[in-house]
Amino acid sequence: MSYKVGYFIGSLSSTSINRTLSKALIRLAPDELEFTEIPIGGLPLYSPDADDDYPAEARELKTSIEATDAVLFISPEYNRSIPGALKNAIDWASRPYGENSFDHLPAAMIGASIGAIGTAVAQQALRSVLAFCNTRLMTAPEAYIHFTKDVFHEDGTITKPETEEFLRDYMAEFREHIVRVLTVLPRR
Ligand code: FNR
Repeated sequence: MSYKVGYFIGSLSSTSINRTLSKALIRLAPDELEFTEIPIGGLPLYSPDADDDYPAEARELKTSIEATDAVLFISPEYNRSIPGALKNAIDWASRPYGENSFDHLPAAMIGASIGAIGTAVAQQALRSVLAFCNTRLMTAPEAYIHFTKDVFHEDGTITKPETEEFLRDYMAEFREHIVRVLTVLPRR
């Protein structure tokens, strides 16, 4: 059985280390997971004024999320929280009221930083947001990635076997989480 995973890159940087991390994760994930990026860079800023007439970019965002079996957030930490672009995308997807695209959706998060705590604080903020959005969050294992260029290569290869094994295990756990949630709550 295969599962569609939509993934968000929280960074808009053309040299994003979190995008590099995403390549490694896709490479190491179980074969049953099929990945599609859900882009966030073209969205306007959310306003409730748009609730009656969502712009095309936001409608596409919601359609993409609703077409997936699970979502994966791969995000940097900005000022001890998540980047504004990512929060903006989540706000669009969660609205209009009563049409929350994240409702009951299996979700997981991971992030890379050049700093030693590896996005731990941002992930706490994201947990709070995604809990309110009623996602079925994978709470363990957690994954806080301290990114160095000697370990992560741009094509998604990893030079450190322990890191590779950790990320492979993380993605295997995510697959298990998706299966568990969908057994109880099949997608409509
Ligand atoms: C950062 N960075 C950062 N790092 C961190 O560990 N904790 C933090 O709170 C912040 N805050 C922060 C704010 C802003 C506005 C920027 C631009 C950067 C550094 C950040 O981890 C580093 O730039 C990463 O390379 C960002 O990930 P991407 O964009 O390369 O994926």
